[in-house]
Amino acid sequence: MTSSVPRVPVDTPGGTYEIHVGRGLLGRVGEIAVAACGARHFALVTDKTVGSLFADTVAGAIRATGARCDVIEIPPGESSKSWERAGEVLEALAGIGLDRSGAVVALGGGVVGDLAGFCAGVYMRGVGLVQVPTTLLGQVDSSVGGKTAVDLAAGKNLAGVFIQPTAVIADTATLTSLPDTEWRSGLAEVAKSAVLDGERFLAWLEGNAEAIVTREPAVIEEAVRTCVAFKARIVSNDERESGLREILNLGHTLGHAIEKVAGYGVVPHGIAVAEGMRFAATLAEGLVDAEPEFTVRQGRLMDALGLSAIDAVYDIEDIRAAISSDKKVREGSPRFVLAAAPGDIRVESVPDDVLMAGLIAFFGKEGEAQ
Ligand code: GLY
Repeated sequence: MTSSVPRVPVDTPGGTYEIHVGRGLLGRVGEIAVAACGARHFALVTDKTVGSLFADTVAGAIRATGARCDVIEIPPGESSKSWERAGEVLEALAGIGLDRSGAVVALGGGVVGDLAGFCAGVYMRGVGLVQVPTTLLGQVDSSVGGKTAVDLAAGKNLAGVFIQPTAVIADTATLTSLPDTEWRSGLAEVAKSAVLDGERFLAWLEGNAEAIVTREPAVIEEAVRTCVAFKARIVSNDERESGLREILNLGHTLGHAIEKVAGYGVVPHGIAVAEGMRFAATLAEGLVDAEPEFTVRQGRLMDALGLSAIDAVYDIEDIRAAISSDKKVREGSPRFVLAAAPGDIRVESVPDDVLMAGLIAFFGKEGEAQ
């Protein structure tokens, strides 16, 4: 599978923009950002870890265009995705005198992208936003789509806005030094995209799994580009998640429940989502006539990508309660995204008795959790 397209367009009612994917793009953030949004003043929001690696390059590239760039650093980690931290960043934006013609540049992973995106969406009722994701998860998923949020004490992602970025710049060279856990979190989204997209991407991913695991630069670049092209198509058709976009939750219904029951941060997001995909595959056999061979195929792919099955023991009642408390549950029955075949995707409400039987069979099959 080859792709010579250097930019992927996203076209939504809330904004039209391009996703730039390639190696060495950090040094070009200035020219791309200025061309995309015309701002002359940028606030570069990053965390201390990513900032120590890349902030000088990005700020330098912006300043080289003659524009002003102020750097706002936040502490790394999920705890920065908070209402309080958002308040601090908003005060900092006011403190540097960013006006409505300015723009925020979000340099980092999902936390920075969400926090800085949220702030760009509410500061002066919205300023420009350039997403510069430096994690695989950020590049293939969270920087594209326009959903941003911060956590409240009452729950994750409870305060948020839709704000489409003015540009997304994914420099795949930043991924070579990504810690393994973060890498695998992104790989689960890559596997998810391939199952959703269809046979062509899935077969390509299977054929290139080894090169992906060893982070072969050209293969990574192609995987990122294919994922964002897929996500761009979905988001362009359903900006506000009123239909099609729901399929992007494949693996996430059980995945989120596992993260919650295990205690946030204990099971890496990617491993939880991969487990959720394995479970969705077994449900799909009974509910949408998926071939058992397709379940085996998905399991093999995840193994090849290093997304091993979870062997921890969970209380199935806790898992069920966590699934039921998910904000996506409608009218009492949780909804699962199910792949009948590659690219043949259904979203089904799953009654409680079917869910329980499925959970018992799934976790029982893996030997332990009851
Ligand atoms: N920001 C992620 C999304 O909109 O899907």
